[in-house]
Amino acid sequence: MFIDHPAPLIGSARLSGPEVLEIEFQAGKEHHYSRFAPGWLRIHAASAAMARPQPTVQCWPADMRNKLFRLSYADYMETNMGLRAFLQALQRDGIAMLQGVPTQSARLLEVANRVGPVRISNFGTYYDVISMPDPNASAYTDMGLELHTDLANWRMPPDIQLLACLQNSARGGDSVFADGFKVAEDLRHLNAQAYGLLTTQAIDFRFQDEKCDIRARAPVIETERSGGLLRMRFNNWLRSAMILPGDVIEPMYAALLAFWRLLREPRYQTQLRLAPGDLIAFDNNRVLHGRTAFDASSGERHLQGCYLNREDLESTLRVLARLE
Ligand SMILES: [Fe+2]
Repeated sequence: MFIDHPAPLIGSARLSGPEVLEIEFQAGKEHHYSRFAPGWLRIHAASAAMARPQPTVQCWPADMRNKLFRLSYADYMETNMGLRAFLQALQRDGIAMLQGVPTQSARLLEVANRVGPVRISNFGTYYDVISMPDPNASAYTDMGLELHTDLANWRMPPDIQLLACLQNSARGGDSVFADGFKVAEDLRHLNAQAYGLLTTQAIDFRFQDEKCDIRARAPVIETERSGGLLRMRFNNWLRSAMILPGDVIEPMYAALLAFWRLLREPRYQTQLRLAPGDLIAFDNNRVLHGRTAFDASSGERHLQGCYLNREDLESTLRVLARLE
């Protein structure tokens, strides 16, 4: 151990055997020998880490219906190539679709578990999106749902959302998606003041029912230190009282309205009618989702949803890359 010594220096380095690099570290009178295998060195080389390609994010300003990555359930479940292509598309576009998923209850968990364990929330391991009496969330009505992100009231909202369609014979109830990163980027150019407020001023989000009261305070648009977009947090049902300095409240409402108006422009929206067996996966931190109203008396509409962690998506892609 070198704890009480100045920084160790490399005394010597040599190949000890054909596959082992041996380095002698010196700190004062102490000597320490470390041996490194070539595979370990390759994985940990700073140059290799820097050269590792970052996932490309491609924003979509317009209708994605024709460009949406679609894959069969069988290819996803049974082939590594299918799984990898699906996850890469999800990472790139923030949205991808599986078709032919069995429509029995909870089968979406098989899809989720191919990537990792489900991220559980106050709505359970998975949840049913179905019109029900005495609902505790607007999703459980037949109302139209404006574009939003889920669980904006959590400090770390879920990264990936899976929505599987079990039944969809009711009139209406089309799914709507928009690339929030594209809308945020456009807002930045069109209304710098609104963008500035939404990225710097944290506001409160809250969900409460008989069993829980979950709150978080965060900006609507979270950015990285470098300025890149990190997370959209937009959900008008979960937005709580506006607790801000008095002179910021009005500009903040104006900023929210500016974002909201832009988001609702049809040019950003992709409207899809999910059929039984369709499963749509999307990046809940980037892609906002909603639905048109439906008539619950005209037929059945039943979706099931669950969440996944981004870490598990990235980990799965790295493990699949090892098999190349
Ligand atoms: Fe939702």
